[in-house]
Amino acid sequence: MNIQTLLNQRIQAAMVASGAADDAPALVRQSAKVQFGDYQANGIMGAAKKIGTNPREFATKVLEQLDLSDVADKVEIAGPGFINIFLKNEWLGSALADLRHSERLDVATVEAPQTVVVDYSAPNLAKEMHVGHLRSTVIGDAVVRTLEFMGHNVVRQNHVGDWGTQFGMLLAYMERLRAENSEISMALSDLESFYREAKKCFDDDEAFAARARELVVELQSGDEQCMALWQEFINISLEHCEETYRMLGVSLERKDVMPESAYNSDLQNVINDLEAQGLIKEDQGAKCVFLEEFANKEGDITPIIVQKTGGGFLYATTDLAAVRYRQKVLNADRALYFVDARQSLHFQQIFTLSRKAGFAQPSISLEHMPFGTVMGSDGKPFKTRSGGVAKLSALLEEAQERAFQLVASKNPDMPEEEQRNIGRVVGIASVKYADLSKNRTSDYVFNWDNMLSFEGNTAPYLLYAYSRVASIVRRSEMDVSALNAPITVVEDQERALAVKLCQFEEAIQQVINDGMPHFMCAYLYELAGIFMSFYEACPILNAEDALKESRLQLALSTAATLKQGLELLGIETLERM
Ligand code: ARG
Repeated sequence: MNIQTLLNQRIQAAMVASGAADDAPALVRQSAKVQFGDYQANGIMGAAKKIGTNPREFATKVLEQLDLSDVADKVEIAGPGFINIFLKNEWLGSALADLRHSERLDVATVEAPQTVVVDYSAPNLAKEMHVGHLRSTVIGDAVVRTLEFMGHNVVRQNHVGDWGTQFGMLLAYMERLRAENSEISMALSDLESFYREAKKCFDDDEAFAARARELVVELQSGDEQCMALWQEFINISLEHCEETYRMLGVSLERKDVMPESAYNSDLQNVINDLEAQGLIKEDQGAKCVFLEEFANKEGDITPIIVQKTGGGFLYATTDLAAVRYRQKVLNADRALYFVDARQSLHFQQIFTLSRKAGFAQPSISLEHMPFGTVMGSDGKPFKTRSGGVAKLSALLEEAQERAFQLVASKNPDMPEEEQRNIGRVVGIASVKYADLSKNRTSDYVFNWDNMLSFEGNTAPYLLYAYSRVASIVRRSEMDVSALNAPITVVEDQERALAVKLCQFEEAIQQVINDGMPHFMCAYLYELAGIFMSFYEACPILNAEDALKESRLQLALSTAATLKQGLELLGIETLERM
């Protein structure tokens, strides 16, 4: 059920029949205030202006053409030409019956599925995943789940950094360990310190540094032994990532890894193509592209460097090859990049150049989905207590432990195994939800107390709300699959809950359009709140037969919607907590 789409179609048709242009949008929105009805159409004024008529008169004409009598019991013109729509209670009741009897909560899959490439997570394999990778990973995954739910063809692309000069240093260090007969996989069990040790040798030992540089060249020219050593490193490093994905409940697998190195053999072609089109200029020995779009006020252009002096390729070169692959091979309609906002200029440049060079056709939509930084309470990027970069796996361990302590203190009589399981679910959900619930474009402060609080727009609040609704249904001791009484919408609180339940698909649509899961979080948080007010005002378990059945179905649909919504966010639910 998508009320917004339904109203948009009907009102737009009435507008066209009244003389508006064929593509004049009705701009139907959920109303912000009850006195404006449940929905309002804001497109009348714009359409009237275009055809040069008075908006209020035009609105009157549209109403004459518009028959919403099946869904609304009042449709009125307000202000300069808004149309306010008041939905009918009987119609809401029947819409809810459809929702209640559908596995998918009456959300239809899209008629025209798109192929959507989602570039997310993408850690650099030289180091362990840190808190900075959390955002790309969990936000990207929520959008992926939502797109798939709607029937789109999603291609996950984990564009991991597995190539580049630092690998020479790491390989040189592996070589040294091997010469000393030390166990390499042991040393790699902590990538962070492995990197640190290698870097120390690189900085302090000239011979080592020279060997490292040699190894980069060997690696990039495909030397077999060197590749084998590198592959060993990459495998172990990817296993670390996968462990974190499993802990987080993120849907990325090995088959989704499309690393930087995969584009290696195409990089020279990218340069050749750019050169053939006259797009390349040499600047101090490096090959660069200067695009006027990126000039500052003084006319200085920040170039895109595509090949270094000496022949090495760069991050940008790989991204150009990746755009071309996504266009040509994957045939994507959209490519979404969930990458730190600090890379905004990089992506603008890559996208602009890709269009210019014909790597991206007009049919593909290239979208950078930037996100802000995770901050500490000191207002600086989040660090551990000792001041190091916060390793993601350690952070997730801590979350589970903290949530376990919380559960244990609230339910001291629960068996420890169950406390641990609830702690695991709540801990992981809290970290993910804290990230998902904020508008991704802003920075946010990482704060244990806030994310583990049972009040406000948090995971514990929502998980608890879900388990409460589930327990109401359980306590009814009724065979819910047999509930068949009509759903009646009478009280204000019943009505508010009914409307909200019917808006699930609209929340999904927002997440998909803007790549912003916080819309779903806000929706679920409001839904849980509306349910609580409904439950206070409208007794369920003590109501009489038909009314009890009707209200119980509202509770069931609320539980199902909360569960499905959380699942789209990648968050597990608990029947009891
Ligand atoms: N590995 C990069 C980093 O950690 C992110 C890669 C994002 N994706 C891309 N196509 N550039 O900064």
